[in-house]
Amino acid sequence: MSKQRGAWSPDSSTLNKAQAVMNAAAESGNLYRNGLGMIASENIVSPMVQKIVASDLHGRYAEGLPGKRYYQGCEGFDTIESMGIELARSVFNAPFANIQSTSGTVSNIAALKALAKPGDGITAVSTADGGHISHARMGAVGLRDLNLSTYPWNEERMEPDIDGACELIRSVEPKVALIGQSVFLFPTPLKEIADAAHEVGAKVMYDGAHVLGLIAGGVFQDPLREGADVMTGSSHKTFPGPQGGFLLSSSEDPAFQKRLNTAIFPGVCSSYHLHHVAGKVIALAEFEEYGQAYAEDIIQNAQHFASSLAAEGFDVLAESRGYTASHQVLTRHGGTDSGAGAKAASLLEDAGIVTNMNMLPGDSKALTPSGLRLGVQELTRVGMGPSEMEEVANLYARVLLHGEDPKIVKESVNELKSNHQVIRYCFNDDKLNGYPL
Ligand SMILES: Cc1ncc(COP(=O)(O)O)c(C=O)c1O
Repeated sequence: MSKQRGAWSPDSSTLNKAQAVMNAAAESGNLYRNGLGMIASENIVSPMVQKIVASDLHGRYAEGLPGKRYYQGCEGFDTIESMGIELARSVFNAPFANIQSTSGTVSNIAALKALAKPGDGITAVSTADGGHISHARMGAVGLRDLNLSTYPWNEERMEPDIDGACELIRSVEPKVALIGQSVFLFPTPLKEIADAAHEVGAKVMYDGAHVLGLIAGGVFQDPLREGADVMTGSSHKTFPGPQGGFLLSSSEDPAFQKRLNTAIFPGVCSSYHLHHVAGKVIALAEFEEYGQAYAEDIIQNAQHFASSLAAEGFDVLAESRGYTASHQVLTRHGGTDSGAGAKAASLLEDAGIVTNMNMLPGDSKALTPSGLRLGVQELTRVGMGPSEMEEVANLYARVLLHGEDPKIVKESVNELKSNHQVIRYCFNDDKLNGYPL
């Protein structure tokens, strides 16, 4: 018998599927609530952001820009987006901001659409050296059918070989010189690269996905004043907002700004997840208030964590440069392509510490790398400081150097985390700087 509309109720197996989703989400939440989230691309959002992301806006549509819509019902949202554009311009000190992009990758696709056409050349960091997949032929660069040339890499300094990069740009004369990585320990000396790029008529695109919060907090580098024409980024890594993206530019030229806006809509987005846009706007307002302190604390923690790991006996990369000037720390756990990074990440997860394996210079296989890429931005957000960084480094040593049972170490992990259940650097109902997780 066919089911009647309105009288239908899910049979138990369908309901079980929905229940299984709820249970798995709760399990994932518990892992992070009780453990240590140390994936460099992740963060937690403030209570106000959580609230607005679950608001009615998540079911609504808007296309176009504030005041120029294709749908009715956008008046309230126009206020939100207009405020967000202004806040983004101020927080990132950018003459142009588009806050609609649904992710860092979408921002990159839009930027490449605005800056190049199929068959044009692009220079970027290779994925083996820490470039993002969207900078590669397998990702957005291939989607746009661009001819990719990759910069030579300085392993000692963990940055592009600047002279080599400038030489490459002058010889291949790309339309886009792309800078920025997923493995991003130090600011890139941008001025020389930008000079070479502008000399051959290329635009400079800086992918700040990872370091956007550090840039906005004034503690990393200032790409839009160092020669970048366009800056893309995620809104949820060191910038502590909901998942999404930003597209920013140093250009005051209305025609160029229009090209960037139209690359987003109608280029790569129709409606653009209004609840997340509203969340970004709240995160921008919170950042204006607390962002500088947050960014400073992240850097201090990353440097302290790196030196604490080294003191425990770990092989931490870039010792000669003080290990890191960002939120990231890189550790080597075995020989090239040995898969030791994967094993270390798995043992740490058993102890309630969530990290990701990462290729290091010399590795050639993404699934059997020798390293870990660690981020401290989430631990910083729940109020951990230098003394906790030492404790965390010791927990790593217990698991990875002293062979302790990860399940035993997990008890110490849970205890440490139980004392850090308040989200910092954000507004709360009592106007205090902190809110329960
Ligand atoms: C350098 C870089 N660009 C872009 C992205 C993509 O960002 P999203 O995950 O927001 O699409 C990442 C992701 O980690 C990244 O590392």
